[in-house]
Amino acid sequence: MFESKAGIFGIAGLGFFAFAFISNALVPIWMYKELPEQTVEEVVNARVLSSFGDLKQRYPEQFDKYFDAVDVDNCAEALRLGRQVYIGEGCWHCHSQFVRPVSNESRRFGPVSETWEYQNALQRPVMFGTRRVGPDLSREGGRRGSDWHAVHFFEPKIVSTDSPMPSYPWFFEGSPDKPNKRGLAMIIYIQWLGSWLDEYPYYEQLEADQEEL
Ligand code: HEC
Repeated sequence: MFESKAGIFGIAGLGFFAFAFISNALVPIWMYKELPEQTVEEVVNARVLSSFGDLKQRYPEQFDKYFDAVDVDNCAEALRLGRQVYIGEGCWHCHSQFVRPVSNESRRFGPVSETWEYQNALQRPVMFGTRRVGPDLSREGGRRGSDWHAVHFFEPKIVSTDSPMPSYPWFFEGSPDKPNKRGLAMIIYIQWLGSWLDEYPYYEQLEADQEEL
């Protein structure tokens, strides 16, 4: 058996399978067994809560209609819905949420993504994405104002000439200053992305890097 080609390939195939299973399944489980998965409520940090309050100030009528108080539970509900809308609208066809450790990506998008950032209920399943028609969004929070996002979702070309991103008028009740529940949720989800990092907003550093290039 060991002298035949079939035997060698058979053993190699099984060997590689076992190796892949150990390195890609068992080792990560073992490495992260001490790192409990956070709930959505637990990932509502002070920054995202303040963005949530900012939405209430900007769009009081709309906000009160759908969320009422600025608290952790309402914010968590908005984040859950925002993520569902992100999935439902297929945003992940064009946007990744993973800064890779190659091609100096950190100079463009911010710090390379780390495992612990995905260890919570809002990242199940992860939205890594494979295509980048648009920029990576994993550090998008705090990079733009919520009113910018509202106008951009309403009609991307208003703020970004020639943008190929589709418009999402169904996030609004008529005009960009009247986001509906889905619109508000989408904006807060975007503002949450990266809000967990120490350095935030990190884009001042990015701009400095870009000037250097
Ligand atoms: C057809 C591809 C496509 C789809 C689908 C798409 N986008 Fe985009 N998006 C882009 C491109 C390209 C840009 C860069 C140009 C611009 O700013 O509009 C962009 C820009 C953005 C930006 C601004 C990033 C920045 O700071 O410059 C955000 C936020 C964003 N998209 C979120 C979303 C969300 C949320 C969805 C789903 C509701 C979505 N996109 C769907 C292509 C897409």
